[in-house]
Amino acid sequence: MNSTHEPQLPGKTLPISAVNWTDVLDDKALLEGRMAPVYPLGVNVVLARVGGAVYAVSGTCAHMACPLFMGRLEGYTIVCSCHDWRFDVRNGHRRSGSDAEAF
Ligand code: FES
Repeated sequence: MNSTHEPQLPGKTLPISAVNWTDVLDDKALLEGRMAPVYPLGVNVVLARVGGAVYAVSGTCAHMACPLFMGRLEGYTIVCSCHDWRFDVRNGHRRSGSDAEAF
């Protein structure tokens, strides 16, 4: 699956070129409003398709490491299934009102 968006890992945007792409999932396998865990080069990542775009953020919750693909997707927000921490799929930032943090 390729995306026009650069992948987001906690607090970082990775420089990426065409030679760095790694196939992880068939594009048709990720439906709108759904998430999927993938492990490119062993890195735990969760993909989410929102508004037709595919976003990639850390697959592990910054609170106590629950797998984020087990949570639910509400618009651009992943809600962790363990303790309801919320993360924006567009940038990986924690959503908690005005004190949002990047993870
Ligand atoms: S582990 Fe995700 S909110 Fe606690």
